[in-house]
Amino acid sequence: MSSERESTQAVKTQSRQWRGVLREYADRLNITDATPIITLGEGGTPLIPAPALSKRTGAKVWIKYEGMNPTGSFKDRGMTMAISKAVEDGAKAVICASTGNTSASAAAYATHAGILAVVLVPEGKIALGKLSQAIAHNAQLLQVQGNFDDCLDIARDLSANYPVHLVNSVNPDRIEGQKTAAFEVVEVLEDAPDIHIVPVGNAGNYTAYTRGYTEELERGATTKLPRMFGFQAAGSAPIVLGHRVDHPETIASAIRIGNPASWDLALAAQKLTNGYFGAISDAKILEAYRILSAEVGIFVEPASAISVAGLLERAEAGLIPAGATVVLTVTGHGLKDPQWALRTADGAEITPTVVPVDTAEIASVLGLVKK
Ligand code: F0G
Repeated sequence: MSSERESTQAVKTQSRQWRGVLREYADRLNITDATPIITLGEGGTPLIPAPALSKRTGAKVWIKYEGMNPTGSFKDRGMTMAISKAVEDGAKAVICASTGNTSASAAAYATHAGILAVVLVPEGKIALGKLSQAIAHNAQLLQVQGNFDDCLDIARDLSANYPVHLVNSVNPDRIEGQKTAAFEVVEVLEDAPDIHIVPVGNAGNYTAYTRGYTEELERGATTKLPRMFGFQAAGSAPIVLGHRVDHPETIASAIRIGNPASWDLALAAQKLTNGYFGAISDAKILEAYRILSAEVGIFVEPASAISVAGLLERAEAGLIPAGATVVLTVTGHGLKDPQWALRTADGAEITPTVVPVDTAEIASVLGLVKK
C-alpha cells in the first residue's frame, strides 16, 4: 500500500518535473530512440525581468539566468547532448580544454554516464569553484603550463590521435544542445527579443543562440531574428580586434581566450542578425557585476556580467532603442568565483564588521533607534 502510494507520488513528481533539454526538445535535436539520454535536468532556467536595468536604459530588459543549470553554467545544455552522443558512439573517455565551466560540466555528465572525463585547464587560471567541481566529479584534471588556447590545441591533437572523444564546442553536438536556450526565451516572450546579448569567449554560445532563433523563425514561432550582441573583455578581444591575441588577459577568467574556436561561425551569425561585437574593460565588467548583484539580485561570475556592461555601454552610446526588448544571458553562477564580491570598486577588501553578542550594541552599530 505504502509502496503503491510512493510510486504514484513519484509519477506525479515526474510529470511536473522539467526533464532536461534532450527530452523537452527531442523533436528539434539530432537524437534518435537509440540515443541514451544522459541528463542532470539542465535547461528550463528562469527568464527574469530586470526593472533596475530597464530603468537605467529605457529598454525592457530580461535576464536569462544560466547559473541555475545543474553545474552552475550554460555549458550543461551542450554537455548533455555531447555526452549522450559520445556514449551512443561507444566512447569510454571524453576530453576538453577549459577555462573552468566546461570542465565542471564535462566532469559531471561523464561521471553520470559512467565514463571518464579528462580535462586540460590553464595552470592557476581557473576559478576555485570550477576546479573543485571537476575534481569532485572525479575528472582526471591536468593543469597545463600554458593558456586556454594551448589547452584546446592539445585536446584537439589528443582526440585526433588517441581514443578520447572531444567535447569542446568545436564538437557540433555542443552548439546543438546550447541552441535550446533560445527556444526557452521564445516560449516566455512569445517572440524573439529585439536584441540578445551574450559574453563571448570561443563564440560557441553566440553561434548557438543564433541557430536557435533562426530555427524558431523558420518554424513560424517568431516574427524576427534578434540582433545578436557579443562582448569580449578588452584584454582578450580577438574578434573585435580582428586578429588573434597571443597573451589574453582579463579578470573574467572564463572568457580569457585569444583564438576563439567558433570565430568563423560567429562572424556568419553576426552578419545574419545584423549583430555587433564589442570590447569592455575589466573595470566596467566589475561595475556591472556589482549593479547586477546589488540592484537586480542576481549573482554571476565576472564573465557573465559583461552582458550587463555591454548593455550599459550601448545604452550610454544611445544605441539601444527606447522600449526595445533586450535579453541578457548571464552564463555562470556567482558562487563559482565569489572573491570579486568582497572588493570595493577601487579594489579594497570588504571585511564585514564583527560585533559582540549584545542586542543593544548591534542596534547601535546598525543605527537603529529603540521604538
Ligand atoms: N561565460 C562563461 C561563464 C563561460 O564559462 C564561457 C566559456 C563563456 C561565457 C563564453 O562562451 O565560449 O561559447 O563564447 N567558457 C569555456 C569553458 C571556454 O571552458 O568553460 P563561449
